[in-house]
Amino acid sequence: MTAEVTGKVGPTGRGHIGTMAAMSSYDDESYLDFIEGLRMFALKSMNPASAKALKAEIAAGKIKSENPDISETRAVADPLPAVGIRNRMLRSTQGLNWDRIVDSYDKNRAALEQELTDAETAGPGSLRWDPDFKYPEYFTAVPYHRQPGSYHADPLGGHIYHYGTKVFHGGSNDKDEAKIERIYELPTPKDGKVEKFLDVACAIGSGTVAAKLRWPNAEIHGIELAAPLVRYAHMRATRLNADVKFSQQLAEKLDFADNTFDLIYMSTLLHEMPVAEGRKAIQEAKRVLRPGGLLVIHDMVQATTPLDIWSDYDRYFDHRFNNEPYAYKYVHSDIDSFLKAEFAEVENSVHGKTSTWNCHK
Ligand SMILES: C[S@@+](CC[C@H](N)C(=O)[O-])C[C@H]1O[C@@H](n2cnc3c(N)ncnc32)[C@H](O)[C@@H]1O
Repeated sequence: MTAEVTGKVGPTGRGHIGTMAAMSSYDDESYLDFIEGLRMFALKSMNPASAKALKAEIAAGKIKSENPDISETRAVADPLPAVGIRNRMLRSTQGLNWDRIVDSYDKNRAALEQELTDAETAGPGSLRWDPDFKYPEYFTAVPYHRQPGSYHADPLGGHIYHYGTKVFHGGSNDKDEAKIERIYELPTPKDGKVEKFLDVACAIGSGTVAAKLRWPNAEIHGIELAAPLVRYAHMRATRLNADVKFSQQLAEKLDFADNTFDLIYMSTLLHEMPVAEGRKAIQEAKRVLRPGGLLVIHDMVQATTPLDIWSDYDRYFDHRFNNEPYAYKYVHSDIDSFLKAEFAEVENSVHGKTSTWNCHK
């Protein structure tokens, strides 16, 4: 199943790719296709080459401990040519990616912003947001993933983020296909009832729209902190004819009543917050979850799950060089024990570098 905007020229005059406005010129699009290819080359070819080079050093006894400190790993891994090239490719493709997306959407900025404004009162679905919303300092302190303006400061932040994820995922989610698959795999509460669903930190709302596809008769909500993202999420949902209620809210302080939702989804939020705030967000989700309801958390795997030395180095690289300021502390925060103390029953499963916790209230 996929989502796609068809038959509309759109604000850049060049139609849509899946559910996002195409770049403003063929040149921009083709440049970004090249960047996407370079990134995929770094991931698919340079990653295995780098891991192999580090493994050879480990086999030669350059790293003594089985569970080395990151500084010990870096002292050996950083100087390896394959690793250096890979690191540079990932860092540079990210920078080139953002610069070109911003330049390209800038050419049609007025039309793109107008489209957001026009969609505010459009349906189906609804949008609540506050132009004077006070963001917490931890959120504005650093541009996440080095996105210019971060999530919150450029009115086109949603557009920029969305095209950025196209390059980041190598085009594999252009029509929401990966998100739809993920939402269709979600477990349900033990009694099977899903009449009210909440997507916490829904960003551009692709998981939220997918939830409406899976549960068409349910009331579907998405909350998100950044105004440009939640406005974009609503506009995108109206284009896809999805009846979803979006609102700008802080995950740590939701304005829903206690015991409201049957199923709550919190995907890749916690590693982007200080640990204490993340714990408040979990407790808030528990508050608005009804007894017997289910909270599904999907995020980076914790340090309690042993990673091979290369994967640990890679996790640190992303934290340090791709502006994930809270991620490394998060992976060392022992969320498992916290969740077990909060919920009646918790199941955890690990899939490579990510982890899922099913928390039953
Ligand atoms: C990596 S994105 C994940 C988006 C989406 N859940 C997904 O899985 O694709 C993290 C999102 O969390 C949002 N966010 C960060 N802190 C938040 C908070 N305290 N409350 C609500 N949203 C927050 C960011 O604005 C961003 O959209």
